Formats: sequence, structure tokens, C-alpha cells
Amino acid sequence: MSRLYQQAVARERTNSARSDYKRIEVHPIAGALGAEISGVDLSQPLDGQTFKEVHQAFLDHLVIFFRDQNLSPDQHKAFARQFGELHHNDFIHEIEDHPEIVRVARAATDQFVFGNDWHADVTYTKVPSLGSVLYALDVPDFGGDTLFSNLYTAYETLSETMKETLSGLRGLHTAEAIFGKSGAYVQDNYKEGHKATGVSHNEASTEIYAHPIVRVHPETNRKGLFVSSIFTVGIEGMSDDESRAILDFLFEHSVRPDFTSRFRWEKGSLAFWDNRCTLHYALNDAAGVDRLLHRVTVLDGHVDG
Ligand code: SIN
Repeated sequence: MSRLYQQAVARERTNSARSDYKRIEVHPIAGALGAEISGVDLSQPLDGQTFKEVHQAFLDHLVIFFRDQNLSPDQHKAFARQFGELHHNDFIHEIEDHPEIVRVARAATDQFVFGNDWHADVTYTKVPSLGSVLYALDVPDFGGDTLFSNLYTAYETLSETMKETLSGLRGLHTAEAIFGKSGAYVQDNYKEGHKATGVSHNEASTEIYAHPIVRVHPETNRKGLFVSSIFTVGIEGMSDDESRAILDFLFEHSVRPDFTSRFRWEKGSLAFWDNRCTLHYALNDAAGVDRLLHRVTVLDGHVDG
């Protein structure tokens, strides 16, 4: 693990240093993944060169952050649309007049925190999403951070034998366990959060889709693990017990602290993460304080439906 990890970290550092940015400044926030970008006003359409550099930073760092932005819902959507069409989430209530924007809310009295488990967004569809853009409107002075994990490094640090074992296996993804009629978000202990976030246990599809456990990123061609503890419920062709043994190992391995970074929000911060090679986790450590962010999820036009 240690030699493989050193190699993986060195590779991430090389990636970070590789790109030559002229219009933006890129400041990595951790060794594993994540960089803050400065010099960009996201309320305006990006010119060709700036878009190219922001896109490259996104591919190099897996999650990028911007501070002090002032975005209307339309500007938030317009920024995200430069990377692809937007997803309309059938399970979570959107904000008024903006069906593509999910309200990520925690009221001071809520026990429940939306996204308080390691996951990538919208992997339970036929074509998994590209990424998500989360914009902070009202956040605690401290606490309520978001953690991110690098799934390339998670894959690269596996033994060759495990890589061979996983190659060709497909994980089964569904929204059922979370958003389905008996899903976690509609259980009694989540009722408060249910109201706060507007999660609806409606008739939306909870079909199962199979995606490779080792997925080749459609833009970087790098291999990464592609499983998450809330949406991956089994492995195609395996019994529940067999799947569970492998998946439990992968869930734990993919979020080793060494593979992660942590982002501290401020009002006006925006995070754009790649759902194809990262997981994220909203911390539940800010009870008694309101927290409100808006999220859009970008569909992946690089993959055939
Ligand atoms: C999410 O899981 O999409 C939300 C993450 C957060 O609120 O920090």
C-alpha cells in the first residue's frame, strides 16, 4: 500500500503541476485532490481560453472551488451548462421556477443532513452524471464542511490481483435504498430532514443500472473505482453475500483519509466536482445552525446513452 500510495500521490502532484494556466490561478488545497481557483467571475460566461483552463483544472484536480461568487439561480445554471446539460432530479424538490436546482438545506433544528454519507451524485441512471456544482448561500461560521475522495488513487493503490479480480465486474446502482418508497430518506428518523430538503418518495424511477466497478474516465482515460455506499447495492452475477464482501472492502478503501480533502464553505463559495472519479460527504457537525446551498448536476455528454 505504501509504495503504491507514494506513486499515486506523486502522479497527482505531477498532474497538478502539468497544466500551464494563463487566465486563472490554481491553488491545490491538499495532496489527494481539490484546488481553489481565483481570477474568475462565474456570473459571466467564460471566454474560450478561460473555459479551457477551468475545464483543465477540473480534470487535473477532480474538484475545484471558487470563492466570493455572487450568482442568481440563472447564473448558477448558466455556469454549469457550459459543461453539459443539466439533470432534473425526480426525487428531491427543486427551488421555485428552477427544476434543475436542488435545495440542499439544513434547518438549525434538523437532525438530518443531506449527503451525510460517501457518494457520487446521480450514478443510478443509465448514463451516470458528469459532475455537480454546489453554491453556498448561507453556511455556518464553522462546521458543515464537505469531504471529497479521489477514486483514481483508490483504484491505483489496489494490488494487481485485486485489479484483475475487479476488471469486468459491474456494480448495480439504484436510488431505491435512499429515495425509494422504503428508502432511508423517508424513515421516521429522517422525517425532519425530509421536510427540510423536500425529498419526495414519489413515483420516480428506482430502476437498477449496471456500471463497471473499474471505470475508464471518458475525458482523461484514467481508471478509477466507481462505487458508492449509498447507490451501489450489489455486483452483477454475484450473490448478496459475495457482493457485500467485495463492496464493503471497496467502500472502506475508497475513502481512506489519505485519499481525501476537506473544503470549508463561506457564503458565495462554489464547488464543482467530478462525479466520475470522486466521492463526497457532507459533515453533520453543525447542529443548531442553518445551512443552505443550491446544487445542479451536469449530465455526461461524453458517454452514449
Ligand atoms: C451533496 O451531497 O450533494 C451535498 C454536499 C454538501 O451539502 O456538502
